[in-house]
Amino acid sequence: MATSSHDDDLQTESALIHAGRPDGKTPVWPVVNEPVYRISTVLYDKAADMKTAAQRAYGDPYYGRRGTPTKHQFEAMVAALEGAEHVMAVSCGLQAITVAMLAFLEQGDHIIVSDNVYDPTRKFADTFLKRMGIETTYIAPIVDEATFTAAFKPNTKLVMTEAPGSGTFEVPDLPMMTRIAHDHGALVIIDNTWATGYFLDVFTLGVDVSVVAATKYICGHADAMMGTVSTNDDGQWRKIFATSNQLGLSVSSDDCYLAARGLRTLPMRLDQHEANALLLAQWLSEQPEVTHVLHPAFPDCPGHEFWKRDFKGSSGLFSICMDPDIDQDAINHLLDAATMFGMGFSWGGFESLFIEMNNLDKSRTAAPFPADGALLRVHAGLESADDLISNLDQAFTSLRTFRG
Ligand SMILES: Cc1ncc(COP(=O)(O)O)c(C=O)c1O
Repeated sequence: MATSSHDDDLQTESALIHAGRPDGKTPVWPVVNEPVYRISTVLYDKAADMKTAAQRAYGDPYYGRRGTPTKHQFEAMVAALEGAEHVMAVSCGLQAITVAMLAFLEQGDHIIVSDNVYDPTRKFADTFLKRMGIETTYIAPIVDEATFTAAFKPNTKLVMTEAPGSGTFEVPDLPMMTRIAHDHGALVIIDNTWATGYFLDVFTLGVDVSVVAATKYICGHADAMMGTVSTNDDGQWRKIFATSNQLGLSVSSDDCYLAARGLRTLPMRLDQHEANALLLAQWLSEQPEVTHVLHPAFPDCPGHEFWKRDFKGSSGLFSICMDPDIDQDAINHLLDAATMFGMGFSWGGFESLFIEMNNLDKSRTAAPFPADGALLRVHAGLESADDLISNLDQAFTSLRTFRG
């Protein structure tokens, strides 16, 4: 039951609603980070202001779903990372991919997709987009100019690619692809999760829209899901913004806070992931059971010349192909024996991972993957490379004993 409050003449229920609320006049504290704003309602001073609220610029106070200062702080940081004018944070990397594609597509359109994209991107095209009456043509991860040109149709609206593919690591010739796509009136969207803007400035290569699964290196601590969509074009931004609103996309300030906190240290972490991955990849390439190392910085990686030309570095994720004579039990034994490496979905956190890529190489339709053995993916974390290598060393020794 209501009891009288200590303040004013309000009942407790009312006092609890009104006490301690921001008055909009208190100066903001001079703290380093934008605090976590947990909001739905934004209050307007005057009825007339609320009538025109929908015209407020993106980033101005409006309503919780559109964003909070915590979200906009994070988006401003991603804009600096990607070299983009406009950034939309969404709730995971896959959502960034799907909203970016949906923003530009209508029934009856045609799209071109690289054969080595993140598998759920492919599933989205093969199911949801297909149901919408959108046709997909897959192209080989490394495609020459004539083959790429031949894939275009009069209704081709966009090209979706990834550089490198996050399972098999081929690096496409992005400037060639963006030039030809633009000649055909199509946009290029890239999944820039592996390199991020730190290692690859996609907009200088002509890419229109960059999507990043911020869940990986941006958050960097395996503790949050987040995605970003970035563009430098006002018209494209309006479509992305409108589609996000129509779909009701929203992201929590708590997650934006974690993502912003991760992003502050992304350069130092990526430098360390890069150094560790190169050492691990080199060591693995010397093991007789490993037939190939798939790492863009290795000269025999398909598209290595484009990586050298376009990228400023390489991150912590790469794959290895195993000798086809090694059976599934032995592969499982190796993965189990590498005890410093976790097994789980995702990557880009501070921890090392070692997993088998189930069927990723086999889902291709444009260009078969040229290896028969198991495809294993390594994420080099931030541990000491010496410790990681000695752990792999004992795992490979154990594999040899297991196989007899
Ligand atoms: C290359 C790539 N893009 C996008 C995603 C999707 O990100 P999320 O898991 O945040 O939806 C992933 C996730 O593994 C990924 O590896």
